[in-house]
Amino acid sequence: MTAAPPHIQRIAHPDFTQDLDITREELLNLLDLAADVKRSPELYRTSLAGKSIALLFEKPSLRTRMTFELAIQQLGGFAILNEGPIGSREPLKDVARNLDRWVSGIVSRTYLQKTVDDLARWSSVPVINALSDTWHPCQALADMQTLREHFGSVRGLKFAFVGDGNNVAQSLMLICARLGMDFALANPPNYNANADIIAQAKGIAAENGSTVTVTNDPAEAARNAHAIYTDVWASMGAENEAAERRTAFAEYQVDEDLFAQARPNAIFMHCLPAKRGEEVTDAVIESPRSVVFDQAENRLHAQKALLLMLLYTGQNQ
Ligand code: CP
Ligand code: NVA
Repeated sequence: MTAAPPHIQRIAHPDFTQDLDITREELLNLLDLAADVKRSPELYRTSLAGKSIALLFEKPSLRTRMTFELAIQQLGGFAILNEGPIGSREPLKDVARNLDRWVSGIVSRTYLQKTVDDLARWSSVPVINALSDTWHPCQALADMQTLREHFGSVRGLKFAFVGDGNNVAQSLMLICARLGMDFALANPPNYNANADIIAQAKGIAAENGSTVTVTNDPAEAARNAHAIYTDVWASMGAENEAAERRTAFAEYQVDEDLFAQARPNAIFMHCLPAKRGEEVTDAVIESPRSVVFDQAENRLHAQKALLLMLLYTGQNQ
């Protein structure tokens, strides 16, 4: 016999297509629930019994796909996978309205944010963004869980992202601002995060007593940071720019010298997959202060919490 799970707050917004679809209060509850799910997985093993969830992946994935499949299975649900372009054989609105009749939720990794937004628009079941060109909000949840585990509390920490102002950077910028962390982004000229997202994150940070700064100087961002984060220089879909990006990003590698600018107890973070010798050296990613596999593990727990808060309707439904 397993005890019924403790109260699970339902997220008010029907979907999670971007970081701000959940409120700050819901985010804090989600991180608490993720910690509980990690501690006591057996309490939740029938929480999604009877629910089928579609995984639609237009792009490759190891972590996201496997952790969603495992999360759904371990919560008692059933995951069904479709790989390939979404909406090329028939209109996206038809895909969404077919899925709607079969499954309780949709997890989608897409090239364009518009695709995941349109899925949400045309289906009545919750749609989760498993990475788009604009956001990687599930990654950001797991990363905040990892930071909490490491530092206890995240408010007041300095978080440095060195590299491309990409989907991962944009999600982290918003979530760090929301949690009262100082977020510093260092990117090469012309590889900026979206200006509207930066402005929005600055406003959210101000409400939470923290700052968002953007610079072209990696050392400035890294100085006194509690965590240094990086990601590939050429994201999925930009592989044809890899050579020119290697030149543009050459000064933005997280090596031991840059890591030494951070606090002595600073951690190294990366969403993975990593290209050792490009955005990070082998010495840094393999150092005892690298938490990259904690982040990967927490994808499972944070996404379980997210699924529960979007889909849980009662024990053994
Ligand atoms: N970090 C992450 O999303 O990894 P995958 O691309 O393997 O899913
Ligand atoms: N920015 C990377 C993240 C991969 C998890 C990409 O979009 O390819």
